[in-house]
Amino acid sequence: MSSKETSNTSVPREQWGSRFGFLLAAAGSAVGLGNIWRFPFVVGEGGGAAFVLLYLGFVLLIGLPLMIGEISIGRRGRANAMDSYKIIQPNSKWYINGFIGVIINFMILAFYSVVAGWAFYYFILALTGQLIASDKDFESSFSSFISDPIMPIVWQTILMTVVVLIVLRGVKKGIEKWNNILMPTLFVLLLILLFKSLTLENAREGILFFLKPNFSAINSGIILAALGQAFFSLSVATGMYVTYGSYKRNESSIARNGGGIVLLDVLVAIMAGLIIFPAVFHFGIDPGRGPDLAFITFPTIFRDMQFGIMFAGFFFFFVFVAALTSAISLLEVVVAFVKEKFKLSRKVAAPITGAVITLVGGFCALSFGPLSHIKVFDRTIFGLFDFIAAEVLLPFSGLILSIFIGWIWKPIGVKQEIEKEGNSFPLFKVWSFLIRFVVPIVILIILIDSIGII
Ligand code: PFF
Repeated sequence: MSSKETSNTSVPREQWGSRFGFLLAAAGSAVGLGNIWRFPFVVGEGGGAAFVLLYLGFVLLIGLPLMIGEISIGRRGRANAMDSYKIIQPNSKWYINGFIGVIINFMILAFYSVVAGWAFYYFILALTGQLIASDKDFESSFSSFISDPIMPIVWQTILMTVVVLIVLRGVKKGIEKWNNILMPTLFVLLLILLFKSLTLENAREGILFFLKPNFSAINSGIILAALGQAFFSLSVATGMYVTYGSYKRNESSIARNGGGIVLLDVLVAIMAGLIIFPAVFHFGIDPGRGPDLAFITFPTIFRDMQFGIMFAGFFFFFVFVAALTSAISLLEVVVAFVKEKFKLSRKVAAPITGAVITLVGGFCALSFGPLSHIKVFDRTIFGLFDFIAAEVLLPFSGLILSIFIGWIWKPIGVKQEIEKEGNSFPLFKVWSFLIRFVVPIVILIILIDSIGII
């Protein structure tokens, strides 16, 4: 079977246009609202630097090994997140984990598109100069925007329409082309902002909160949250790497790409923290205030800055771009599944899938306003979607994934896939030990601990 063909049909499978196509698109998926919006507020809620250290440990010891295995599953299977498992291990039930991945993407995009819609709206506000009037109270204007029964849904729908239009164009002309333009833009913007924020007065307290650990604050809830954040931020155990890996060329290195994605993702998260926490302390904002942290802190920084309007425009463009490239990947996983399962064309599968997700996502959007009274396990609908996806399904799916890779397909199978076309797999033995023992045992302990059995 040629690498350009799907395993289960005779139609040539789409492929990235260049060796870097996968790297850029996967980094585009990993770097997103998880780094700029979610990371700072979970660090804030988790008490600061000790949480950051846990998160970094999980990224290296759990996220990276899983990511390398997941990309390999996709490239070997050359099918969607579910069918790739079937091709590697026919006549078994392991593919159910791939299906769980599709559900995770569906759920994440439902609430992610809400926040991405907010970012889009703020970008337009910044562009038209309406964001930072000097007398503006950002807290009340943001909370009246997100609690409105109509506007957040309008922006969410606009955002989803853009995402659908890009995914509809396909792997090379849609996803890859836009990541090629958007990802480098994102890094330039980030560097400008970092420079700006580190020159803020009184930055020290915020930097200490972010970088100086206080381990007494750690409890099982915080450990689970740090694990969930590591998964969410890397987009690992969601089937994204399987799907994007299935379009990956054999000559492009899986191990090197994995390292590169982790580096970029961590770098952006740390930079976001270094931008946000000095300002949080400078302006006396509560770091543990939750999901609106970034949307209140950043406009406050820009208002007090020279050329603030211009930087606000840059920044929200940056957030919007980061969200867009991740939302593209979230939709692509579900679309690839729907398209191959129901034998539909991309042009039909993308709008239908996008519409269903937007509909469900509407309930998440309304949970900041008209539906805010609905609470399940003390969480709003939005909070519940986030919690179930990031802190229940992702670790669970990661656990199954590590067992599948380490004990069923076995490290040697992954090694053969990675070493195709003369590529190398440095630290294979370390990886193999991590994926077989460390990853499953650590995830299992954290999950059991968080249920309260220990
Ligand atoms: N990693 C993305 C972020 O940090 O914003 C979110 C995400 C994208 C999670 C794709 C999962 C996924 F499959």
